[in-house]
Amino acid sequence: MFSKTKILSLLTLLLLFSPQLSLQTQPTICIIGAGMAGSSLAHFLRRYSPPTTPHPPHIHIFERNGVVGGRMGTVTISNHTFEAGASILHPKNYHAVNFTKLLNLKIKQPSSSDESDSFGIWDGEQFVFKTLSVDSKVPFVQKIVSFANSVYIFMRYGWSLLKMQSFVDSAVGRFLKYYESLERRPVFESVDEMLKWAGLYNLTTRSLREEVADVGLTRLLTQELVTVITRINYGQSIDISGLAGAVSLAGSGGGLWAVEGGNWQMAAGLINRSDVALHLHEEIESISYLGGYYELNSTKGNSYTCEVTAVATPLDELNLLFSPPILIPERKLQHTHATFVRGVLNPVYFGLDDVSKIPDLVGTIEDPDLPFTSISVLKRHGEKDFSYKIFSRKPMADLLLDDIFSARRETIRIDWGAYPHYTAPEAFAPFILDGQHLYYVNAFENAASTMETSAVAAENIARLIVSRFFGSESLSSSNLKSFSFDGEELHVDL
Ligand SMILES: Cc1cc2nc3c(=O)[nH]c(=O)nc-3n(C[C@H](O)[C@H](O)[C@H](O)COP(=O)(O)OP(=O)(O)OC[C@H]3O[C@@H](n4cnc5c(N)ncnc54)[C@H](O)[C@@H]3O)c2cc1C
Ligand SMILES: *[C@@H]1O[C@H](CO)[C@@H](O)[C@H](O)[C@H]1NC(C)=O
Ligand SMILES: *[C@@H]1O[C@H](CO)[C@@H](O)[C@H](O)[C@H]1NC(C)=O
Ligand SMILES: *[C@@H]1O[C@H](CO)[C@@H](O)[C@H](O)[C@H]1NC(C)=O
Ligand SMILES: *[C@@H]1O[C@H](CO)[C@@H](O)[C@H](O)[C@H]1NC(C)=O
Ligand SMILES: *[C@@H]1O[C@H](CO)[C@@H](O)[C@H](O)[C@H]1NC(C)=O
Repeated sequence: MFSKTKILSLLTLLLLFSPQLSLQTQPTICIIGAGMAGSSLAHFLRRYSPPTTPHPPHIHIFERNGVVGGRMGTVTISNHTFEAGASILHPKNYHAVNFTKLLNLKIKQPSSSDESDSFGIWDGEQFVFKTLSVDSKVPFVQKIVSFANSVYIFMRYGWSLLKMQSFVDSAVGRFLKYYESLERRPVFESVDEMLKWAGLYNLTTRSLREEVADVGLTRLLTQELVTVITRINYGQSIDISGLAGAVSLAGSGGGLWAVEGGNWQMAAGLINRSDVALHLHEEIESISYLGGYYELNSTKGNSYTCEVTAVATPLDELNLLFSPPILIPERKLQHTHATFVRGVLNPVYFGLDDVSKIPDLVGTIEDPDLPFTSISVLKRHGEKDFSYKIFSRKPMADLLLDDIFSARRETIRIDWGAYPHYTAPEAFAPFILDGQHLYYVNAFENAASTMETSAVAAENIARLIVSRFFGSESLSSSNLKSFSFDGEELHVDL
């Protein structure tokens, strides 16, 4: 009926006279937060929009800090740099694996360090369990020690260990569905739907305590090893949801890795390669929907117009004003105090006669009187000179540290609004906050909070934006029935 040129000129006319459509030719997508979620969202938005797209969107990322990475960040104690927040990745964290390759980053195996990793469980009075530690650099001896330790752990916890492993493997196996091809994997409009599709939803309706009891773990294994790991990874007891618990236990297995020089480089690299306008030191204070677009105001006094806005940070402790207001289930963040110390522990505090007898990783059982959750050796500088990392639920006072350490040259404290305080059953905030184009990546954090889950959630949000804003749906109310985001030309059906 119409020739192509006629259609195009008609389209031009349409665009000229319709402010809404002209906005959509080169829309602006605004992302709040430059952590793993915000940076991978930018990456996937670009990846799902081939370079042939006529009008690729502008992408802005706002970050209140002066650096990117968010909860991925390093701390430097006397010239040595360590992970201060998110530290370990699982071998099956496939987005992180891919990002590391894409960005030419180096992988570091934490266990390949020169430290022998002895481990002990402290109950406030004694070590109820301790692995053997032999100060030998001979690999053969190390192997025997680690074999002996496996036997030793097995003797204490028995077959229950295998049940625990299969509980974790089953959850990890289900999670792998999120890496299936785009054709086989729907775009999810809610966290509930996303979890149900992978068969993970039920694990969020019951506590880890209930789940491991059903699986048949012994009381000893549950109250010691499982509790210790959950406390280290989420700073919480086994009353967290079964899913957060399974993720936490998965983070204690073999093959764990990190990015050499700091995990935050994944965020930095993704942002660098995604053609993004990055606004550091700029905190967003308000998001107002003004019909067809959002107005974002920042602490710098700037206003930004964005057709699509994505919140890539937990909303729980933010003073972010939404107009109109949004409604999300109440959620508390668990605060983890990370204290870094260069010095040496006091063996007397642990009822021992020599520092060498204190395990490299001290875990703790659930007891409200215990002032810390874990203490681990980050680096051994000399016989009586170490760098340590302490996790605790409350700040570590100087007096307390003076009790635990016999010498302390340097102390650095970080208070993290670390991850959600998990409960069962979990209630999830929506991915789409207002039914329009205001998205919330971190709604997924109630399932589990890790670098990889942030990337998995961001990938889904990218697809959601592409299909809802750029897909056929977005223009169905106008004359144009289909406007393909990835198409090489406009498919106009007048
Ligand atoms: C101590 C600790 C240990 C952890 N260990 C691990 C681990 O070993 N492995 C693992 O996978 N995960 C771990 N995690 C969890 C992991 O860090 C997080 O799940 C993940 O980094 C979250 O990334 P995100 O991008 O969703 O959020 P964030 O990293 O929190 O990013 C949000 C960003 O938004 C910015 N922001 C907030 N509000 C505004 C605003 N109004 N305007 C502009 N910018 C704003 C923040 O400054 C921040 O940079 C750990 C976390 C902590 C705290
Ligand atoms: C840190 O490194 C610098 C230069 O490399 C050196 O001069 C300084 O003594 C070091 N400081 C410590 C505490 O090791
Ligand atoms: C990782 O990258 C490879 C190669 O580009 C790709 O085939 C694979 O689908 C990617 N995996 C994920 C989880 O994106
Ligand atoms: C989840 O629980 C429901 C209700 O108890 C049950 O019908 C369903 O089969 C369970 N799903 C999975 C994947 O286990
Ligand atoms: C950004 O990416 C380019 C390649 O696209 C690379 O040359 C440059 O070093 C990167 N910069 C940073 C800061 O990572
Ligand atoms: C945002 O800034 C604009 C321009 O300064 C102002 O008109 C508007 O009232 C501000 N919005 C909010 C919610 O403060």
